[in-house]
Amino acid sequence: MAQTESAPAADKAAKAPSGPPIIELTGIKKTFWRGKEPVRVLDGLNLEVATGAFEALMGPSGSGKSTLLNLIAGLDRATDGLVRVAGEELGGLSERQLARWRANTIGFVFQSFHLIPVLTALQNVMLPLSLTSLGRSERKKRAETALRVVGLEDRAAHYPRQLSGGQEQRVAIARAIVNDPKIIVADEPTGDLDRQSAEEVLTLLGTLARDFGKTIMMVTHDPAAAEKATVIRRLDKGVLS
Ligand SMILES: Nc1ncnc2c1ncn2[C@@H]1O[C@H](COP(=O)(O)OP(=O)(O)O)[C@@H](O)[C@H]1O
Ligand SMILES: [Mg+2]
Repeated sequence: MAQTESAPAADKAAKAPSGPPIIELTGIKKTFWRGKEPVRVLDGLNLEVATGAFEALMGPSGSGKSTLLNLIAGLDRATDGLVRVAGEELGGLSERQLARWRANTIGFVFQSFHLIPVLTALQNVMLPLSLTSLGRSERKKRAETALRVVGLEDRAAHYPRQLSGGQEQRVAIARAIVNDPKIIVADEPTGDLDRQSAEEVLTLLGTLARDFGKTIMMVTHDPAAAEKATVIRRLDKGVLS
């Protein structure tokens, strides 16, 4: 009896990687200013994420989930505290260094896909590579590989409007991985999708963590989506549990 009850928990523990931390936040504070009023969103937050983990971040609207994700991704800076991600102390980087670090280290996935409507799936996926010194044929080859990973190589010539929502999000994931980033941050990636498409996107994220060694930090409102992750964290009133 006791054994049966503990099985799911043991399962979860076996799934969760325990590698060295790739994300280490220490004593993080983030204050926004609304006029003269400080809005203290994060107030002394600590977080360690193991390399290769697929983590879900839940919490009420306005609790600071996107803020936290933006700090991890180097899109915003902490008011106080140490942000160490993929071996870099982000507070010590200039804006220019931070932009370069971000382009090499982080893949972004958004709720509303953010594909460019006048570009084909392949062209959308190639886009992040246009900032690199790679030639066109190499960029094309890498984008084709990324589309293959998400199972959409046969949709390369389609425009976003010719794809379903789930396919659009998978193209967006291909675009996020085309640079081979160590970390993928996904802010409510299944928020605009039906159940079936959401399942496909979550399965894909799980595969990227398990088989491709990506570390994934996913914000979600959906308990069923969070269940697909190896670790579930909750943020409430600036406190992480
Ligand atoms: N750029 C900003 N300027 C002022 N306040 C902000 C800014 N970004 C977020 N906030 C505030 O910080 C709080 C947390 O926002 P957010 O991280 O977006 O929450 P969540 O993603 O959990 O819904 C909210 O009160 C929001 O209004
Ligand atoms: Mg948010």
